[in-house]
Amino acid sequence: MIFGRVKPLDAILATAEKRGLHRSLGAFQLTMLGIGAVIGTGIFVLTSEAAQKAGPGMMISFIIAGFVCAVAALCYSELASMVPVAGSAYTYTYAVMGELLAWMVGWALILEYAVGASAVAVGWSGYVVGQIRNLLGIDVPMEWVNGPAAGGYVNLPAVFISLLVTWLLVIGTTESARVNAILVCIKVAALTLFIALSIPVMNMDHFQPLMPAGFAGVAGAAASIFFAYVGFDAVSTAAEETKNPQRNVPIGLIASLGFCTVFYLLVSAGAIGSPLGAQPVRDAAGAILEPGTAELTARCQAIVAGGALEPLSCSREALAHVLRTIGWSKIGNLIGLAATLALPSVVLMMMFGQTRVFFTMARDGLLPKPFAKVHPRYKTPHVVTIVTGLAATFASAFLPVGKLANYSNSGTLFAFFMVAVSVLVLRKTDPGRKRPFRTPLVWLVAPAAIVGCLYLYASLDWGSILVLPGWGLIGLVIYFGYSRSRSYVGRGIIDVVDDASMQPETARKLD
Ligand code: ALA
Repeated sequence: MIFGRVKPLDAILATAEKRGLHRSLGAFQLTMLGIGAVIGTGIFVLTSEAAQKAGPGMMISFIIAGFVCAVAALCYSELASMVPVAGSAYTYTYAVMGELLAWMVGWALILEYAVGASAVAVGWSGYVVGQIRNLLGIDVPMEWVNGPAAGGYVNLPAVFISLLVTWLLVIGTTESARVNAILVCIKVAALTLFIALSIPVMNMDHFQPLMPAGFAGVAGAAASIFFAYVGFDAVSTAAEETKNPQRNVPIGLIASLGFCTVFYLLVSAGAIGSPLGAQPVRDAAGAILEPGTAELTARCQAIVAGGALEPLSCSREALAHVLRTIGWSKIGNLIGLAATLALPSVVLMMMFGQTRVFFTMARDGLLPKPFAKVHPRYKTPHVVTIVTGLAATFASAFLPVGKLANYSNSGTLFAFFMVAVSVLVLRKTDPGRKRPFRTPLVWLVAPAAIVGCLYLYASLDWGSILVLPGWGLIGLVIYFGYSRSRSYVGRGIIDVVDDASMQPETARKLD
């Protein structure tokens, strides 16, 4: 029976207790990690894409995507407080729905975290190139800042930042969290400045027509801009490194998500209300052009060449562009600088989440043993960090940001969906277990998360919809070819010794 391999919750907790990572994070640090993971390429880079899809209705897109994340976060919180170990959605699914589905979730989380990290690295690359041009007057040759799809060879800045972040993670969580906190302050300051300068001069006429592409446009933009919220769940993957996780993880999740949602709505309102507005760019026949296409690029160039303001949808540094338009050129440049300095914190959190999920899967025997090694001095899972870092570096070197973000979304939506299902299943199968955080109105909230994830997934472009089953198929081949026969749970081993070498031979057998 392929769904029969469930890992008992008590065994999960005992394993974590014995082999735990160093517990160093508190509620504040965790909230900072959440904000560090969430505010990034989504708001700084993909806002223009949302405007092109939805027009001013992108505010509704932000609300829809934020709502789905909020209900998912409430489900995450219940499971994270009950099962405060590394591994997040993967671990919860293992305990509730068995190894096969857990493997599929872990596999999908690679899309979310590793591919997400690559997307942000590519977004960062766009900003850093702008900064080099603005501050130093040097034009970096396009071949070296674009992958083959965009007519280049390799995205060197994205490669650089991915490798730097990998190194930070190898040398330890505490150091990484400290660097992260500084960068979070920088980007929050940048967005606050943007809001303070743009909201008072908003022109409400620019909110009409609200939905130039109809509700389908708003839904499509919600599916893409969902990326702007991705990452809050990385907080739960840090549960095993958190002091008093039962209290701190739910605080970290909900506080970081609430904070970001308010900021996103204000930032998008400020952008829409500026003289640029947020109406989509159309072709000569009046049809709305697809974001990321050569046609849109050509149309944008023609508009600018004609002497008109560059529309919001055309800008690669949307927020800086808005500020320049309302007369704050220097501050606009500073916002670009802030994004350049701060986006690496998002890459860091995405990769952090990925390494912890991999670490947990290796600890369960589903991935090669060396993946679960903890560095004797730095106390970090260094092998898995290096493997993840190299994979993310490779993806960011060759693929464009929009594609990477949407692929990441497809994996994330699957993981959120499974978490919501797991909460409901566990309420039925184990109602008596202690739940330090209980999802309020769970029979409304969890189904809302389930339906919301399905809705956003169905609103993605076809290519990204197909990525998930394609990626899943590869995962199934590896599971049945390698992992299934090596699984500790499958071999009746429910606990492991607490040495770093993870020798299953010395593990305690299940009677
Ligand atoms: N939410 C993160 C971002 O917007 C992934 O970059």
